Amino acid sequence: MTPQPFLGLRKARVRYPGADGPVLDDLDFTLHSGERVGLVGPIGSGKTTLLLSLVGLVPLNQGELVFQERVVRAKTDVAALRRAVGFVFQDPDDQLFSPTVLEDVAFGLLNLGCSQAEALDKSLAMLEDMHLAHLAQRQPNTLSGGQKRLVSLATVLVMRPKTLLLDEPTNDLDDRSRELVMGILQQSGCALVVASHDQALLDDLTDRRFSLRDPLGGWGVLLS
Ligand SMILES: Nc1ncnc2c1ncn2[C@@H]1O[C@H](COP(=O)(O)OP(=O)(O)O)[C@@H](O)[C@H]1O
Ligand SMILES: [Mg+2]
Repeated sequence: MTPQPFLGLRKARVRYPGADGPVLDDLDFTLHSGERVGLVGPIGSGKTTLLLSLVGLVPLNQGELVFQERVVRAKTDVAALRRAVGFVFQDPDDQLFSPTVLEDVAFGLLNLGCSQAEALDKSLAMLEDMHLAHLAQRQPNTLSGGQKRLVSLATVLVMRPKTLLLDEPTNDLDDRSRELVMGILQQSGCALVVASHDQALLDDLTDRRFSLRDPLGGWGVLLS
């Protein structure tokens, strides 16, 4: 059976205000259902911009964001997309904002309508799975970079999304935590778009790569 397009951009152009040129130009990208794509390219080539555009966090100057074969226009379309797609930011400080780690992990579940008790139960279980239970009552801003990254992954994984967008998920991690994260992602069965320079992670987790061109070599994209 041919896989169905799930999420993508058509002829997308993103130019940040005041920038010399567009970061993404005439870019076509499609994630099919169940597919696992590695997003590669040098620093500044637009990997983060592409991921943020895929969930409507960076607006397109031209082109279309397409979710389940429908062009995303209304706020309600964006809301449905965000419920279906988990997003792990490159900077964990963009993900963590609650007074404690446990509350940060429970936040998404409460938003999805879980009871307080269920949200806390599932959040504690997630923290245990990730060997983070001892951090449950800590203030997120007091954690190390690697701990923050693991907690920010937990805040998204706990919602059991079927599709995950991950921006440099193994930055700041030691070998043990990296293995743990790779194992969890492998087992999750999620469709993935992973921006990373971690070749071993991409080899292990993804089916194909999508390359963004070196910004010093001109604008636009190369398909791999
Ligand atoms: N909010 C922003 N405002 C202006 N320029 C930005 C912004 N975010 C990113 N950029 C610029 O866009 C280019 C691509 O950035 P980014 O998508 O973060 O690349 P990557 O993730 O591949 O390193 C870079 O030149 C970066 O400086
Ligand atoms: Mg980036």
